[in-house]
Amino acid sequence: MTVAADLAALWGIGRDRVRGGWSRHVFTREDAELRAWFVDRATGLGLDVTTDRNGNSWAWWGAPGSDAVVCGSHLDSVPGGGQYDGPLGVASALAAVERLKARDVRPRRPFAVAVFAEEEGSRFGAACLGSRLLTGAIAPERALALTDGDGTTFAEAATGASVDRRHIGRDQEALARIGLFLELHVEQGRALVDLDAAVGVASAIDAHGRWRLRFEGQANHAGTTRMADRHDPMVAAARFVLAAQEIARKRHGVRATVGRIEPVPGGTNVVASSATAWLDVRAGEDRETRTAVDEILRRASECAAAEGCAVATTEESWSSRVAFDPLLAKQFSHALGDAPLLPTGAGHDAGVLAAAGVPTAMLFVRNPTGVSHSPDEHAEDADCERGVDALVTCLTEALS
Ligand code: GLV
Ligand code: MN
Ligand code: MN
Repeated sequence: MTVAADLAALWGIGRDRVRGGWSRHVFTREDAELRAWFVDRATGLGLDVTTDRNGNSWAWWGAPGSDAVVCGSHLDSVPGGGQYDGPLGVASALAAVERLKARDVRPRRPFAVAVFAEEEGSRFGAACLGSRLLTGAIAPERALALTDGDGTTFAEAATGASVDRRHIGRDQEALARIGLFLELHVEQGRALVDLDAAVGVASAIDAHGRWRLRFEGQANHAGTTRMADRHDPMVAAARFVLAAQEIARKRHGVRATVGRIEPVPGGTNVVASSATAWLDVRAGEDRETRTAVDEILRRASECAAAEGCAVATTEESWSSRVAFDPLLAKQFSHALGDAPLLPTGAGHDAGVLAAAGVPTAMLFVRNPTGVSHSPDEHAEDADCERGVDALVTCLTEALS
């Protein structure tokens, strides 16, 4: 089966008629459909599928055991996302198993394909929640209390998906089994296009984090409240968006994004009572990221004060810069004919596992649009097959 055929099988799941693209969030009906596809496809290959204590799925080739080679990614998406971010890695891992089986390869180490839950953090705010829970990078009490846009807690949603909330949290047994983790992912920029290469190997993930800012003002009538009398949190948030841009632009390599603002109550003829803005900041190193965030958050107070509003800030997640295992990266790059080594500004479960001490590597597949987190994200079918070839090469090295 080709990767394109697998992705085509998923095409109709989670199509977003309002935003365009795909909206596939953890523990929803769409997630259940995607996991059902995974179970079908994996069991069809003779793998045994289990779900761990944190809602991550594992398809084992043979018995689970220590020093396992694990290959995988995620199936959830950002709101209105593309169809490659995540599913390409899962479909490619399954295609690699299919090819290895066709060649009668018998792995010398335990092997599994994994699907991590809530990688994007699109429903509950914290990215890579499944891998963070597995490794203990987030406390279970904190994760269980996270809420989605409708006020449903992670604990409630997990229970609805048959994940026992009492057992959520660091899973030493599952973690200790992973001897090597390899994630293939669509490239989320244009580096491979510019290098004229179909496949690259990740060297590092930039430091990144998310902050939630709640600007509080006073709800009032749009027609009768004089401009001078307003405490409008939307204006404070608008000032903040511009301040974040300005600060990031003057600092080399810093990226700051406010991709989401939610006013309450959200009426056309109502001055809002509050506006919540989400800030995403990334840079090559921890220190430059933290310094930029400190400056941006200081300015948030000024933006609020300028409109007679208050602001409260919460750090939703933080990921230090992660350098992938340099020997593995070099070994895989060499095995792939000196494939280019690339750092990335995107977060991945591979980064969470690497930070927990798991030997980890990532492969990137060329994306001709260079666009990601958008329906315009793309990978040519032929490049997807080259990605599977690359995975087979790396897995053959790791499994023999
Ligand atoms: C995940 O794709 C992220 O980098 O936010
Ligand atoms: Mn993503
Ligand atoms: Mn991803």
